[in-house]
Amino acid sequence: MTDTTYKLHILDGTLEYVLKELLEKYPQAVILSTEKEEIEFEINIDGNIEIFRNLYSPLHIEDCNGRILKLSKREWRKGFVPAGINPSLAYILCMIAELKEEDIVLDPFCGSSVIPITALKYFNVKRVICSDISEKAISASKENFKVAGIEESKYKLFRSDIKSIKLSKRNIDKIVTNLPYGIRVGDHSGNIEIYKSLELLAKKLLRKRGLIVLLTQEKKLIREVFRKEEWNIKSLARVNEGGLLPEVFVIKKR
Ligand SMILES: C[S@@+](CC[C@H](N)C(=O)[O-])C[C@H]1O[C@@H](n2cnc3c(N)ncnc32)[C@H](O)[C@@H]1O
Repeated sequence: MTDTTYKLHILDGTLEYVLKELLEKYPQAVILSTEKEEIEFEINIDGNIEIFRNLYSPLHIEDCNGRILKLSKREWRKGFVPAGINPSLAYILCMIAELKEEDIVLDPFCGSSVIPITALKYFNVKRVICSDISEKAISASKENFKVAGIEESKYKLFRSDIKSIKLSKRNIDKIVTNLPYGIRVGDHSGNIEIYKSLELLAKKLLRKRGLIVLLTQEKKLIREVFRKEEWNIKSLARVNEGGLLPEVFVIKKR
């Protein structure tokens, strides 16, 4: 490695998205090599490794002296839940959803709200609606929204089982969520009802051209619930997240 060379460490399955973010923010970067979990690139820049703090999709970056900057850490993430998503992956889900400033985003399995806060802070969406069945998740979310310095008018946060969510307005542009998938949270039989409820909710709340981006390991179930007669469903990436292999699905109304 020369002193203009850097290595990005990434989640397996996310190469395309990390390259996209890198080249959008640093068009002068020259890619030297790519592997499943690593991108090596060259760039002439003034300043040190700290300038790469504006990259949110990689896990970390290493310079030629072995100095490492952790890019998946978020200063606002003080509250945690079991099975919380890696913030780099949350960022990638938001990229895939092509979030826009006018979007209203729903996460009905918000956990500690890593996805909704990512959508507000880095994609500047109009508003997020987040809910979760667990009181602990709602407390963790409250803390994270506060530390992130997000105005209360930008989010609605409440405790609810997906099966009984009290929302009725068809004003959701994107649902971006990390479902319970029965390994660290829940079990398969419980998931059937939960996934069916998500499909019903999406039918009710999603605008005509709305989009769902979700992460799950229940690949068969998701295809059973979002029937192809009504939904267009595509698996975009399989991510290796700490030994689990969930997939990112993009779902649209037909
Ligand atoms: C995989 S976790 C999401 C983690 C979140 N993305 C984060 O980073 O904190 C799934 C979440 O679904 C919630 N959950 C499980 N069953 C639910 C249900 N029936 N209704 C609503 N939320 C539920 C769990 O409490 C958990 O927080």
